Amino acid sequence: HPPVSQMEETSLLRRANCRSKGGASGFKVAILGAAGGIGQPLALLMKMNPLVSVLHLYDVVNAPGVTADISHMNTGAVVRGFLGQPQLEDALAGMDLVVIPAGVPRKPGMTRDDLFNINAGIVKTLCEGIVKCCPKAVVNLISNPVNSTVPIAAEVFKKAGTYDSKRLLGVTMLDVVRANTFVVDETLQSLSSSSAEVLGIDPRDVNVPVVGGHAGVTILPLLSQVNPPCSFTPEEISYLTDRIQNGGTEVVEAKAGAGSATLSMAYAAAKFADACLQGLRGDAGVVECSFVASQVTELPFFASKVRLGRCGVEEVLPLGPLNEFERYDVHLMEMPGSLGEGKERVGSKH
Ligand code: NAD
Ligand code: LMR
Repeated sequence: HPPVSQMEETSLLRRANCRSKGGASGFKVAILGAAGGIGQPLALLMKMNPLVSVLHLYDVVNAPGVTADISHMNTGAVVRGFLGQPQLEDALAGMDLVVIPAGVPRKPGMTRDDLFNINAGIVKTLCEGIVKCCPKAVVNLISNPVNSTVPIAAEVFKKAGTYDSKRLLGVTMLDVVRANTFVVDETLQSLSSSSAEVLGIDPRDVNVPVVGGHAGVTILPLLSQVNPPCSFTPEEISYLTDRIQNGGTEVVEAKAGAGSATLSMAYAAAKFADACLQGLRGDAGVVECSFVASQVTELPFFASKVRLGRCGVEEVLPLGPLNEFERYDVHLMEMPGSLGEGKERVGSKH
């Protein structure tokens, strides 16, 4: 992309500030991996977000094309593209929020752990850029395996002396999105009367907290805490839990080699990024599930409800009352080595 002069930069920002409804100046958001399957629709959704005044789109391929395309949308955010490692620092300078969907996706027969070697290296490089250019940014990490990439990012930040656990959030929102959808769409249509009271409710008004991690059996929907309240039979709990835990695999198999969830993920990531921006703006009562540094269990990182605020994670909320099944699953996760997902091979239920 052509070098931007000081004057052009000032004029871009003035335009952004005038057009943004996100407060005096709006927020600056970077997407790393913006030309990918998740990155492109996520860029589109973030360009539509009135809290965003500046949107930086970075990728190692195709960033100029995606940027040109998105920049024609008549919404407030000013969009700029950055291509390849030499432009990473420009992409990151001064960002408030960095969303990272960079990395390879699964193919049928793979677990998320199989992505570790490639994606760990990508995340490390990108986090080193964050250390240098926007160490105070809130980071939303999407790249898999989230259970491992978040601890890796933490180590990069620790090594550089910039680690702030409040600002590093693994994105598990898709598990919540799936849980809310499946609770309304699937089980209640096919199964018993005990939960029929939820039928007819818009899935957007349903909230199932999903805790643990983002892989196989570490994805634990707290169906006992569904809101609006609703009771499920043991068969319903088993069916729903299995479907939610294997939602990613369901999409990988359906795409048959063409990747994993991208569109629903972009929707979930945009919702989560919006919640983070609302928190940064100072809105009260912004609560979402996320995989963060945590003391709610014996594990150093754990997904649970967090309250978002001006510094990122203001509070990691307790798990709340669990039923016997949920307590047992948390206990299993606390056992050493259980956060891997070797058991989650495509085609097997666990
Ligand atoms: P994709 O292959 O379509 O896109 C990935 C993009 O990352 C590509 O455009 C690629 O060029 C880019 N990229 C690769 N190396 C990069 C680097 N060093 N710097 C910047 N960009 C780089 O993949 P996708 O479907 O968008 O998935 C991306 C990741 O998100 C995968 O790891 C996938 O497993 C993960 N994912 C996570 C969740 C979740 O719930 N957290 C959900 C779906 C997918
Ligand atoms: C998902 O849950 O859809 C993602 O983690 C992608 C995958 O590999 O399943």
